[in-house]
Amino acid sequence: MTTHHSPLTSNTSHLLVTGGAGFIGANFVNYWLNNYPDDRVVVLDALTYAGNLASLEPAKNNPNFHFVHGDICNQELAERLLRDESIDTIVHFAAESHVDRSIHGPDTFIQTNIVGTHSLLKAAKSVWLDSHSSLLRPQSSVLKPYRFHHVSTDEVYGSLGPEDPPFTEHTPYAPNSPYSASKAASDHLVRAYHHTHDLNITTSNCSNNYGPYQFPEKLIPLFIINILEGKPLPVYGDGLNIRDWLYVEDHCKGIDLILQKGRPGEVYNIGGNCEKTNLEMVETLCKNMDERKPSSSLTSYSSLLTFVKDRPGHDRRYAIDSSKIKKELGFEPYESFETGIRKTIDWYLQNESWWRAVMDGSYREWLDRQYGQKHN
Ligand code: NAD
Ligand code: TYD
Repeated sequence: MTTHHSPLTSNTSHLLVTGGAGFIGANFVNYWLNNYPDDRVVVLDALTYAGNLASLEPAKNNPNFHFVHGDICNQELAERLLRDESIDTIVHFAAESHVDRSIHGPDTFIQTNIVGTHSLLKAAKSVWLDSHSSLLRPQSSVLKPYRFHHVSTDEVYGSLGPEDPPFTEHTPYAPNSPYSASKAASDHLVRAYHHTHDLNITTSNCSNNYGPYQFPEKLIPLFIINILEGKPLPVYGDGLNIRDWLYVEDHCKGIDLILQKGRPGEVYNIGGNCEKTNLEMVETLCKNMDERKPSSSLTSYSSLLTFVKDRPGHDRRYAIDSSKIKKELGFEPYESFETGIRKTIDWYLQNESWWRAVMDGSYREWLDRQYGQKHN
């Protein structure tokens, strides 16, 4: 991929996007380069199983895009990138993100989500606040200089009962899974670097995302692909757990608003105002697929639905109160549940080569070529 250095005097922004080869990160990079074509976007990504260079295809030949294969735990690398690329904005997506994996193998969650976030905070403090290079800060026409935006989840607030009001920014933290506990710890570190060191941070806690480029271990892409392959649809427990779904591009727009207008040190909840039980979600997916790609052997794909053993500690309900970001920054999700699901299904139907490469492992070919077969 190409490298390009903009002069320090330019009035464009230079973003470091961690985890930019993952689901939301890649959508964000593609969104940003489309909307701010003069800005420079540097992606730092370790290319774990969840990272996929094919998701960055739309950016690949853009001279303002640069991909760096590396770990956020490597503070020296992060500092070098902040200096060499004159980065004024970090958008921190990199994380281990799948609750089921955090139950069986929590160590990488602690390492990446907590230690990695702390390493990145130290790098930002060192380069932006401690060193003289801060005199050379680029002036941004779009964004305020030196912002560390931390992307987090509503799962840090724990689980809601059926009658509870949705999570606000003041809901006490009560994480229930190793994943959400590690994200909660990272949120606290980000907050602490603002209060202790006056680092210019913002945090967003967002509800469940769906859309293009989502790794097919999460509910929606897994079920779309299982439907296409005629495989069972494994619904955990009674299927009545509730999630508040947001189309991924709307999440990107929310982060964009926070970067442009968000107040330093503030936390913003982002949600879709779209609570659905898992059964409602599965029925919607089956109905859409019945219309778009009817099965030759089944009357409806809903006959593939199979109840399986529940996830340990499975949170019952998440729901977000987005009134703060709506009132302060004018955020409103653009996609409805119906249009978002239709777009997502379209994308998986039209991009079979993307998910087939994930399923057969060939999406890791770039790493194989770079490092032989020894990589993670
Ligand atoms: P993802 O698992 O699809 O992508 C994570 C990316 O981070 C991958 O590209 C991976 O290679 C990279 N990565 C992992 N460890 C790394 C490390 N040590 N150094 C550098 N890169 C590393 O995740 P996602 O669903 O895109 O989520 C992105 C962020 O948004 C996460 O912080 C997650 O907690 C948060 N979030 C996700 C959702 C959701 O519904 N997916 C909702 C709210 C918040
Ligand atoms: P998931 O996409 O893993 O997101 P999260 O756990 O972070 O909310 O799961 C969304 C919901 O779907 C959650 O209640 C668990 C449920 N689920 C199933 O019922 N079956 C599955 O195979 C998966 C992956 C999830």
